[in-house]
Amino acid sequence: LIDFISKPVLSIQGNITVPGDKSISHRAIILGSIAEGTTIIDGFLEGEDCLATLGAFQSMGVRISRPKNAQVVIEGVGKYGLKKPQQPIDCGNSGTSMRLLSGLLAAQKFDSILVGDESLTHRPMQRISQPLADMGAQMMLSASNTPPVYITGNQPLKGIDYVMPMASAQVKSCLLLAGLYAEGKTSITEIGISRDHTERMLKTFSYPLSQKGRTLQVDSSSVCKATSLLIPGDISSAAFFMVAASIIPGSDVVIRDVGFNPTRTGVIEILKQMGADISVSQPRHFGGEPVADIRIKHAPLVGIDIDKILVPLAIDEFPIIFIAAACAKGETRLTGAHELRVKESDRIGTMVQGLQALGIHAEATLDGVHIQGGIIQGGCVNSFGDHRIAMSFAIAGAVAKTSIIINNCANVATSFPTFIAIARALNLNIEVKQ
Ligand code: S3P
Repeated sequence: LIDFISKPVLSIQGNITVPGDKSISHRAIILGSIAEGTTIIDGFLEGEDCLATLGAFQSMGVRISRPKNAQVVIEGVGKYGLKKPQQPIDCGNSGTSMRLLSGLLAAQKFDSILVGDESLTHRPMQRISQPLADMGAQMMLSASNTPPVYITGNQPLKGIDYVMPMASAQVKSCLLLAGLYAEGKTSITEIGISRDHTERMLKTFSYPLSQKGRTLQVDSSSVCKATSLLIPGDISSAAFFMVAASIIPGSDVVIRDVGFNPTRTGVIEILKQMGADISVSQPRHFGGEPVADIRIKHAPLVGIDIDKILVPLAIDEFPIIFIAAACAKGETRLTGAHELRVKESDRIGTMVQGLQALGIHAEATLDGVHIQGGIIQGGCVNSFGDHRIAMSFAIAGAVAKTSIIINNCANVATSFPTFIAIARALNLNIEVKQ
């Protein structure tokens, strides 16, 4: 078990990069594995979640090497070259691994089992098993529709027209991957926008995908062609330092090479509406993904009503946005974010509990929160094993009256193994206690 102890600091300054994007890293491994030819990935996130996906493909006979830091070389086996894994595939803490792999594995000739850790074992899987069953997949979940996922292979899949009941890139991506093998066309219509990395990555691997309005369509008639790609920095990791620089007086931080995909930039929009001083420069592309440099200076924040439209575009950033809200003048209100209750932890419940323990007036609603800005006191909070809750309270400690101890922080390694090192490079004072 690992605890963080985060102490108040005067200001933070510096010029940093953050590790590669988690969502894009997963997709690069998946498509590289089923591509024809050798794919070279640079900027890969060496976090436990993406390593779970990488390990899954190694266990299905794909040769994958890591010649140097953040570089992965995959000898693709082609769409039909995966082999039956000898053991259940362990997705660890990673919902993305489990949901995306389920779509791919439902279409293979062999049976497979997907398992996860305590947190993942409580996450809803019916959102994928139901549409996959409509496509003809054979799979079984626990009685509460949670993992393990048991997949019976060798079932011919057929395309469906699916209207997604929620904004979820994991569900969309799961079905697109199944659609690469299904007879006929697989059409997916989104009601709310979700991150579009799978769509972009399919194009990067030369796989045709048609897009009309909010409907995506794939069929099984093509193959993925190997490629070389560079993954941008993860805006979800950068967000911790954006908020840190905003709330710590005198701060000025530049974060270079950050992914700036418009389906992910909700955090910047929300922070700007709260009064943050954020400037974006050098817009460019790393392959199919937009990238920019971001400079954040301290600025007084004010509470806002967060626009529902922005929720899926900032879905992973709410824990740290709540810290910004706790430091803002006035009240911040969030609605339409029920999905937060089924992430790595119930992020509405865990954040409200922690904020209250630190003397902030915060109230949970069914699908959001009300947070009254105030003075963050020192104290002790539990991350409940959720990486983003741990990092959020670690940032809060920088502006608290006295230290904040955060329990149960080991899972920070799932998405941001270098968080502490980068935080320290910026002058944050976070101790790690084993
Ligand atoms: C992800 C999609 C989001 C996000 C998760 C990563 C992805 O989940 O919260 O961290 O890579 O597709 P949902 O699709 O469930 O919203």
